[in-house]
Amino acid sequence: MWTAGAVLLTQLSRNSVLSPQLQQASAAPSTTSNSSLLETVLEARPTAIQLGQQWGNLITYNGQIPGPRLEAKPGDTVRIRFTNRLPQATNLHFHGLHIPPTGNADNIFLSVSPGETQTYEFTLPKNHPAGTFYYHPHLHEFVAEQVFGGLGGIFVVRGELDEIPEIQAAKEEFLFLKDFALNANGEVPRPNHMDLMRGREGLILTANGQVNPTVTIPAKGLLRLRIVNASTSRFYRLSLENHPLYLIATDGGAITKPVELQELLLSPGERAEVLIQGNRSPGNYQLLSLPYDRGNGMGMMRDGMMGGGMMNSSSSTSNASQVIATLSYQDYIPQQLPLPEKLIPVETLPQPSKIRRIEMSMAMGMQPGMGMQIAFLFNGKTFDMNRIDAAVKLGSVEDWELVNVDPDGMEHSFHLHTNPFQVISRNGKPDPYQAWEDTLRVRANETVRIRIPFRNFAGKAVYHCHVLDHEDLGMMGIVEMQA
Ligand code: C2O
Ligand code: CU
Ligand code: CU
Repeated sequence: MWTAGAVLLTQLSRNSVLSPQLQQASAAPSTTSNSSLLETVLEARPTAIQLGQQWGNLITYNGQIPGPRLEAKPGDTVRIRFTNRLPQATNLHFHGLHIPPTGNADNIFLSVSPGETQTYEFTLPKNHPAGTFYYHPHLHEFVAEQVFGGLGGIFVVRGELDEIPEIQAAKEEFLFLKDFALNANGEVPRPNHMDLMRGREGLILTANGQVNPTVTIPAKGLLRLRIVNASTSRFYRLSLENHPLYLIATDGGAITKPVELQELLLSPGERAEVLIQGNRSPGNYQLLSLPYDRGNGMGMMRDGMMGGGMMNSSSSTSNASQVIATLSYQDYIPQQLPLPEKLIPVETLPQPSKIRRIEMSMAMGMQPGMGMQIAFLFNGKTFDMNRIDAAVKLGSVEDWELVNVDPDGMEHSFHLHTNPFQVISRNGKPDPYQAWEDTLRVRANETVRIRIPFRNFAGKAVYHCHVLDHEDLGMMGIVEMQA
C-alpha cells in the first residue's frame, strides 16, 4: 500500500525541508461549558490567514481556522451570540447534534444578514452521546463557498466514552481537515463548471489550519485522534505509516469495541475517533491522504458537450498521496498503555415501520442565455424550501434506501440532520459493525440501506449531499417530523 506513493513522498519531504513547519497541534479546549451553560460569542468575518507559505484572504469564525472549539456535556445549555461580519448572509448549523431543528436552535432556515446578530440556543438531551461534532454555515446556495472560504469548527460533547479509563489515559488531539485553493493574489478562485460538478477541491491540505502539523505521541503511550472531514468536497483515505488505527467512534459516538483499520475513509462532513499505539521505534511517521477515486462524472461532462479548459485548480488533486500531518514520538511512558477492550454497546433498532427509496442523480444541459447548467437531484427534484419531501411520524423508525443511480456518476456523501442512523447494508451486504452515523458515502451504482429512529424533536429538518456544491446545486430535501 505504501509503494505507490513512495516517489511522491520523497518530493513531499523535500518540500517540508524548504518550509519547515513545526507548529504543534493543540488539544486545549477553546470554550468549555461551566456549570451546565456554554455561553460564547462567534463572529464570521474576513480574515487574512497564513496557509503554509501563502497568505489567503479567507473567512473565519473569530479570526481563526478552525473556529473556537466548543465543548459541552449532555444536559448542558448552549448559547451562542453569533454576528455576521461577512458581506453576504450566512447562518450556523450544528452538524450531528441531536437537538431541535426549529426556533433558534439548529434551524438552518434562519438567515443572518450582514451586520446582524442572532442568538442560537439549545439544550443537549441528558442522554446525548459523547462525540465529535462540527459546526459550519448552512445557507442554501452559499454553503460550499463559505465552507471553502474557511468557515467551520469542532463541537465536542464529553460524556460516557471519555470516562473509559484506557481512553482517559490516552493523549487527545484533534485533526480538523480542510483543503484550500488560493490564486497568486491570495484570493479563493471562482469555481468553474468542472469544480461545481465535482465539488470544489484545493491543493493546499491543512489539519487544524496548518500545513503538515506535528502531533506527538509518547513512546508506549496511546493517542486519541478525533478527526473531522471539514472539507467542502474532498474525500480522505487516511493511513498512518507503520501504525494501524483503532476505530473507537464514528459520527454519532462510540462503537461497541475498537476495530483495527489500515485505512480510514472519511467523506465530507464525516468524523471518526481512532486510537494509535506508540509501540513502533520512536521517530516520525506520516499521516497520509492516499489517492481516492470518487468518480469524476466525465461521461456526463462529455454528454453535456463541455469543451476543454475545465481543469482548474482542483480536478485531479486526489490522484497522489499527500501528507496531512506528522506523528512524532516524544517522551516515554514506562509501561505500554493498553487499548480498551470494550467501549459502549450500540443499541439494536426495531424493525422499520416504513421504507423509503431516495435516488441520487445529476442532470445537466444548456440553458439559452445562461450557458451550462448543472443540477443534482433527489428523486428527480432539486431542493424546494416549500416542499416536504418526507413526512415522518415522530417516534417511528424508518429504513431509507439511498440509491446512487448515475451509472458512471460521482460518489455522494449523504447527510441527515437531527437524527443519527445506523447503516444496515451496502448493496445488500450487511454493514461490518453497528455504529451511529449521520454522514455516509454512496458510490455510483450503490444502494445503501440506513435505519433512522426519529426521536424527540418535531419540525422540519433537511437531508442533503455533503459534497457541498452538490447541496447548493439542489441535492437537498426536507423531512418533517410530525408529532
Ligand atoms: Cu454538515 Cu447539513 O450539514
Ligand atoms: Cu448537518
Ligand atoms: Cu453529491
